[in-house]
Parts: sequence; C-alpha cells; structure tokens
Amino acid sequence: VLNLRPMNILALLKSRFAPALKSRVTDPASLLEMIRVAQDAKFGDYQANFAMSLGKTLGKSPRDVATEIAGETQLDDLCLPFDVAGPGFINLKLRDDWLAAQLQAATTDDRLGIEKTTKPRTFVIDYSSPNVAKPMHVGHIRSTVIGDALYRTLQFLGHKTISDNHLGDWGTQFGMIIYGWKHFADAAAFTARPVPELSRLYRLVSKLVEYRESLAALPTVQQKLTQRQAEIKTLQSQPAAADKAAAKKAAQQLAQAQNQAKSLQEEIDSLQTKIAAVEGDPQLAKTAAAHSDIDQRVLAETAKLHAGDAENLKLWHDFLPHCRDEIQRVYKRLNVTFDHELGESFYHDRLAPVVEDFVARGLAKDSQGAMCVFLPGFEAPMIIRKKDGAFLYSTTDLATIQYRRETWQPDAILYVVDHRQSDHFEKLFAAAKLWGCENIQLAHVKFGTVLGEDGRPYKTRSGDTVGLEGLLDEAVSKANEVVKSIDDANPTGPQFSAEQRQNIAETVGIGALKYADLSQNRESDYTFSYEKMLAMNGNTATYMQYSYARVRSIFRKAETTPAAVLAAGGKIVLSHPAERALGIQLLRLAEALATVEAEFRPHYLTTYLFDLAKSYSTFFENCPVLKAETTELKNSRLLLCDLTARTISLGLSLLGIGVVEQM
Ligand code: ARG
Repeated sequence: VLNLRPMNILALLKSRFAPALKSRVTDPASLLEMIRVAQDAKFGDYQANFAMSLGKTLGKSPRDVATEIAGETQLDDLCLPFDVAGPGFINLKLRDDWLAAQLQAATTDDRLGIEKTTKPRTFVIDYSSPNVAKPMHVGHIRSTVIGDALYRTLQFLGHKTISDNHLGDWGTQFGMIIYGWKHFADAAAFTARPVPELSRLYRLVSKLVEYRESLAALPTVQQKLTQRQAEIKTLQSQPAAADKAAAKKAAQQLAQAQNQAKSLQEEIDSLQTKIAAVEGDPQLAKTAAAHSDIDQRVLAETAKLHAGDAENLKLWHDFLPHCRDEIQRVYKRLNVTFDHELGESFYHDRLAPVVEDFVARGLAKDSQGAMCVFLPGFEAPMIIRKKDGAFLYSTTDLATIQYRRETWQPDAILYVVDHRQSDHFEKLFAAAKLWGCENIQLAHVKFGTVLGEDGRPYKTRSGDTVGLEGLLDEAVSKANEVVKSIDDANPTGPQFSAEQRQNIAETVGIGALKYADLSQNRESDYTFSYEKMLAMNGNTATYMQYSYARVRSIFRKAETTPAAVLAAGGKIVLSHPAERALGIQLLRLAEALATVEAEFRPHYLTTYLFDLAKSYSTFFENCPVLKAETTELKNSRLLLCDLTARTISLGLSLLGIGVVEQM
C-alpha cells in the first residue's frame, strides 16, 4: 500500500521496524534510536544499525539478526530491495515513486504533509519576561525570539500552547523610579514624554545605587586580591619540586591562583569604573554625597510599595502603563504577541499563602529568621521569605506555578531564560516537585549571552548595553542597503521605489536579527554582527528570503501559478539525482520539527532550512526549469520549486520570520 500521507520518514521507518524488535526485546527504544539518516549518501538514505547491539544481546551473529528482522519487516512499499552490509548494517534507499507520491500529496496540502501530533500536550511558555521600567536590551531579544519560535512550532505541531509574559513589574526597579520621582523628577518632561523621563530616573538612581554598592564591595574584593597575590608570591618562591607529579601540582596551583587574581582584578576594575562614573562627574558626585544612603532608601521604597503604601502604589499605577506601552512597541515591531502578560505584581497576594502552605506541609523551616526550603541535593536552601518579611523572586515563581497549574493544567512549563538563572530554576523545580508538581514537566530552556565582536557582552561604545529599538533600527537600515545593492546589481530586476525598499528592509532586517539568534544552539553564546546576519550567502534569513523570492520570480517569468500547473495535470517525477536529493530534503521538514519539539531547540529548523536552500541551489544549477526538455519535466520542476518556496516560507514563519515576494 502506498502511504499517501507524507510524514516523518524516520518515524515511519521506526514504526515499521518496531514490531520485529519488540518481539525480541522488551524495550526497543534504544535500538530504534539506531535507525538514522545515512551519514553518506552512498550508503542510501537511511541506515538501521541496531543489529550489532541486538546480536550481542541475543547471542547471535548481527548479520543473521539483521537479515531475519529485515525479512519480517514490511519495507518494499517504501524502499528498494537491499542487502545487509558489512557486519550487519541495513542500508535503506527510498523508492523514487514513493518519494514522488509523498511530494505530490504535499503540493495540495497547506501543512505540507506535516501531521498534527496524536498526543497533544498543553505547554505554558514563559518568555521575554523583561523587568519593565528598565530599558529593554539585547539579552531580551533572545528570550523573546526563542520563546516565540517554540510557541509557533509547538502550536503548529498540534499542541496547546499558552504564552505568558512574566513581566518583572514589581521589583526593585520600581523602588528606584519611585525614589527618583520623589527626588529628581522633571514633571514637565514626564508629561511631555513619560518613558524617556522614567528611564532617565531609572538610570540616574541605578547609577547612584551601584556607586554605593561598589564602594561597599571594593574593600573585600581588594583584600581577596591581596591574599591571592601573596599566595602567588609564596608559590613562586618555593624551590622547584623534585618529582614530576608534585611539579605539575604546583604549576596547577599557581595557574589557579593567577586566574583567580585576574578575575578579582577584573572585578575591581568594573567596581572602579562604576565609582568613577559618579566621582568623575562633579554634579553627580554632589548628588551622590547628598544621597549617601540611597541603596537602603530604594529598598525601603520597594518595601513600602509591597506593603500597600498609598502614595507608592499610586505612583506605580501611574508609571506601569507607560512602561508597558514601551515594550509593546518592541513586540509590535518583532511581530510577537502573548496570550497572557501576568507580571510579578499579579501574584503579590498569593505569596504569603504560598509560604504558609510550605510551612503547613512541613516543607519550609525557619532558619535564622528566614523561611527556607531545604532541597535534597542542594547545599544552600531556597529562601522563600526573608528575615524582614520580604518575599523573593523564588516565592513569586512558586505562586506562578501554582496559578498556572490551577488555571491551565499544563503538561509542561517552559522557561525561556538566560542560563545565568540556572541555579534559581534548578531549585525552583526541585521545590515544586516536593510541593506536588511531579507530573508537570518543568524545563529551563536556557540560552547564552549575546557577545560583541570583541568577545565581550554586547555593549555600545559608551559602555551601555545596547537598547533594543536602536538595534532593530540599525538592522533595518543595514538591510535597506543590502536590498539596494541587490537591486542595483540587477538592472532588469524590480528597481524598487524607496518606500517599497523600506518595507522589504523591515522584513529582511528584523528577520536577519531573529534568525541570527535562532540559528545558534541556544546554549552557546553568540556573536552579534550585522555583516554576518545579513550575508547573502550562508545560514542567514537573508539567504533564505532571497531563495524564496527567486523561486517566486520563476513563476512570474513563466507567467503561471502552482495551481495552474497542477490543474494542467502537473506531476512530480524524480529523474535527476539533484531532483531526488531536493525531494528527500523537502520531505525531511517533519523530522526537523520533531527534533525542535523534542529538545526545544529552534536551530534544528534553521539548519534544516539552510540544507534545503543548498539542495535547491544544486538542483537549480543542474536542472533547467523554464528550459526543461519537455512540458512534463518543466511542470514537475515548477512543482518542486513551489514546494521549496512554501517549505522555506512555512519554516521561516514558525521562526516568526516573514518572506517577501521580490527582493
Ligand atoms: N524578569 C526576569 C529577568 O529579567 C525573568 C523572568 C523569567 N521568568 C520567570 N518565571 N522567572 O531576569
């Protein structure tokens, strides 16, 4: 029977082998993992390598096991006849007629043959989640873009997805602007343009707070450095060790001390920079002197807000909508929306009951006045209420889990948050488990830092972290230049008006920025470079969008549409190796999406798209489309072109990236 529903080929092959494996072992999962895409096309398209391992288990020759299993497994509708190779490899080559039938079915399917999951789960995805009132910076783009891509992909695969922007709208940053408002406000500026005035207050107060904190921290760090330096001297003055092992150990000790000294020195430098930022500016130094306990007083303003102080609460209500408007502008530009935006403030009333519940269940204990949850496997406990009665980030996160559980009954909650919060999430998940959430998958979908080309966290020349809007503007303006240069190089091309070009540049620029982020394994740091992200050749959105537009231009030149080609009886045939390779790659979208789903890593999809664009390019070089020898061949190739364009467009859309019809 021809399987007319195109689907995940790998999953299909596994399902075919499963019965024969199940009849031999109780849990064939690890054996099924040994069915893979072939490393080298000369061994076919897929390989089943389980016979070596299974042979050992069964005490039989792997070749015999492979031959027996292949004999019991129905494959001839999918694959060409095959021999068992070497010690027991089963090399599978898909039949061209089967491939062509799958592709043909995809031509009339909006979902390109990707089936919805038969096991839908409910996912709450917590992403973006900036601390409002602070300007958004480049780090926020990672959470926003990765979270949005996962949301779109999981939803497309048939899961129930709930996005929740867990805004930091209740923290110390509000203490800072409230303090700033009470002491440094420019009411007229606020009325004219509230957000810049609030950020000015935030920046001013945080600079003064950092100044105080740096002054307080400096002596301890300096003392530590002095100790290390003494240690280094001692180590260096010791006579060389007699035996090799001891010498190696001494060298290691020295290197370690030197490293520690180096990072302490860096810490001192950074503290001194913060101190100099205030002391180097006479006006600011004067302000700092007049507000010598600002760090304490900012905390006090935050505490008053949390305690329901009328004045602070009113200010918070006045400020918050402006802060929200500000981030909405960025989301609009990024084309990101949320189902819910329940910020930290939403959970305020739930914090005390959460702590009480932990105490009542015997899960939290008083330790020197603080309420602590002691977790198996962790040295330090998780504090859920401080000595002064204040609740913490962890308390809010526990209340959030409780709320999400009651409201949405999720199977999984994904937290798309910087890897620097790993500790927090490990403890949070452990505590939630003790609290009865063992049936919810809690996953920290962590990501690395955005670096500048100097390898350090991405900053502007003035040393500030880069504001997100400026970044988007710059990407769009660079994209405009790229689109112009393509257009200029091609006199018979579209020759866009300035306005058309600007519209294209918005899609290309924002797409480039998102793709650059998504195409990295999220756990690595990635280096931010406009040049690289907008490169016309390489693993970029620009290359993908350009490939898409080029395919579309073929249809314009042919003065036809995919629907017309199908109506004229167009059939996909795979007559050339490059057509076949493109065809298989087109059908592998389902496999790519399955890996994104399994690991919450969107870069599997970008890698797939890049491979697809490469297969297309080889096809295009080798197989004339408009000048194909026969109408049948031309129609078949046009349909392959259309599938390529639609696959690129669907793949990009799952990443939150648009396409343009011409560029
Ligand atoms: N607002 C936090 C920050 O900017 C991130 C919140 C992530 N989500 C959560 N449920 N903890 O660091």
